Amino acid sequence: MLRFGSLPTDDDLLQRITQGLRWTGVVGRSDLPEADRRAVVQFLKAFSPRFATEPPAPAVVVLTAPPNTRELVERGGHLYRDLGCGACHGERARGDGPSAAGLKDYRGWPTWPSDLTWRPLKRGSRPEDLYLTIATGLSGTPMPYFGSSLDSRQIWALVYSLDSLAPPEHRLFPGRPLGEEPRGWMALRIERMMGGMMGRGMMRLMPGTPWGGSILNQNRAINEGDRP
Ligand code: HEC
Repeated sequence: MLRFGSLPTDDDLLQRITQGLRWTGVVGRSDLPEADRRAVVQFLKAFSPRFATEPPAPAVVVLTAPPNTRELVERGGHLYRDLGCGACHGERARGDGPSAAGLKDYRGWPTWPSDLTWRPLKRGSRPEDLYLTIATGLSGTPMPYFGSSLDSRQIWALVYSLDSLAPPEHRLFPGRPLGEEPRGWMALRIERMMGGMMGRGMMRLMPGTPWGGSILNQNRAINEGDRP
């Protein structure tokens, strides 16, 4: 994963297609052969002229993890407070900080900070996924990047501290469909069925369906409602 706002690498896109975005309708397609997933990567890149003109920035490297100690977890807790993560994510990381309301994504659509006490996380729950999320931020969302202001030990301290906030009962089975995921699978199944009967162009014109234009708003409502 690259720095905030820079183009993703082919591997970033491949990883996203393979793993999907947990809690959303973007379901992971590890069932497809890798050659097909790589072909989709190239297809996606054709949608943005930036890929043709902009050389990719060097990928951010996850530096070797120090041992997870209590001292580092505490340090991460201090950093979480000092860096203002709580302004958005809330003092207890439940996604309810004072600035949480009214956040917008790059299109100006309402969005909100994640409840960081649940796993899986959308971007990925492995320690190295969290490391990258904190280092690079999440382009297109209000989640800022901290890679240029923190050294790797500080980032690891935040990672360990966030991990200590997720109790066992908040760690859901990684293979279980969550939030909008069943609707993502449903949309794929319907697309496959209807694509044959009516043609794909027709599908996109149908308003108010899970595969239609309003899917993002529906995702949000359902995701929130579904979260235990
Ligand atoms: C300005 C508000 C804001 C601040 C400050 C902020 N975040 Fe976020 N963060 C967000 C939003 C919004 C998202 C959700 C992005 C999305 O999925 O659309 C997010 C997502 C995340 C995620 C990814 C969750 C997932 O499901 O993959 C992590 C981890 C995270 N933030 C950690 C932090 C940490 C650690 C800090 C402080 C160092 C911090 N954030 C500061 C707004 C913020």
